[in-house]
Amino acid sequence: MWSSILSFVSLLLVVQAATDNVKPWFCHKLDCPKFTVLQNTTDYQLRHYIPSKWVATNMTVTTYSHGQLFQKLFQYISGNNVPGQKVEMTAPVVTTVIPDTDGTTMYIMHFMIPYAVQANTPVPNDSDVYLVDVPAMDVYVKSFGGFARDNTYVTKLQELKTSLDTSATNLYDSSQFFTLGYDSPFAFINRHNEVWLQAVKA
Ligand SMILES: *[C@@H]1O[C@H](CO)[C@@H](O)[C@H](O)[C@H]1NC(C)=O
Ligand SMILES: *[C@@H]1O[C@H](CO)[C@@H](O)[C@H](O)[C@H]1NC(C)=O
Ligand SMILES: *[C@@H]1O[C@H](CO)[C@@H](O)[C@H](O)[C@H]1NC(C)=O
Repeated sequence: MWSSILSFVSLLLVVQAATDNVKPWFCHKLDCPKFTVLQNTTDYQLRHYIPSKWVATNMTVTTYSHGQLFQKLFQYISGNNVPGQKVEMTAPVVTTVIPDTDGTTMYIMHFMIPYAVQANTPVPNDSDVYLVDVPAMDVYVKSFGGFARDNTYVTKLQELKTSLDTSATNLYDSSQFFTLGYDSPFAFINRHNEVWLQAVKA
C-alpha cells in the first residue's frame, strides 16, 4: 500500500514538474515566472505561481506615467548595478496598482530576475530600485491581446471582477490589482496582456 501511495505521490510530482516547466507561448523566448493552472474558464484562469525573484521600483502619484518606472528598471538591466552587469530582459512587466483613500495611487513596477542570475543577483545602484522575493501566490487572470492602454486594463479588470462576483467562492483581494504586459512596444503581432487579482482563501 505504501509503495502505491509513494508512486502516486511521485506521479503527482512528475505531473507538477511537467506543468511548471511548460512555458506558455506568450513568453516567446524570454524567461517568465512558472505557474500551474488550477481553474480554467472562458472568462478567466486561476493560476498558482511558485516563488520568484524580481527587481522593482515604485511611485505614489495622482497622475501615472509608466515611463519613469520603466526607465529605472531598464537602467538596472542595462548595467546600473554593483557589478555593472547586463541582465537579460524577462517577461512580463508586472505593475501592482494600490489605490489609496487620499486619491493617490502607488504603482510598483517589477521585472523578473532571469533564472541564470537568481542565485547571484546584481545589486541595484539606484536607491529607488530594489530586489523582491515574491512568495508563492494564487491569482485570477484575465488575458487579452493587442496594445493595452491604462483604460484597457481598467475595462478588463472590471470584466474580471464581474466574472468572479458571479460565485461567492471566488474570493480576491480588492485593495489592489496587477497589470501585465508581455511584449515590447515594437512587437506588432501575437501580443499578450493580463490583469490579475490575488486570490485569497476563505
Ligand atoms: C482554457 O480555456 C480556454 C477557453 O475555453 C481554452 O481556449 C484554453 O485552451 C484553455 N487553457 C488551458 C490551459 O486549458
Ligand atoms: C554602480 O555602483 C558600483 C559600485 O558601487 C560602481 O562601481 C559602478 O560604477 C556603478 N555603476 C553605475 C552605472 O553607476
Ligand atoms: C517603494 O520604494 C521605496 C524606495 O524608493 C522602498 O523603500 C519601499 O519599500 C517601496 N514600497 C513598496 C510598497 O514596495
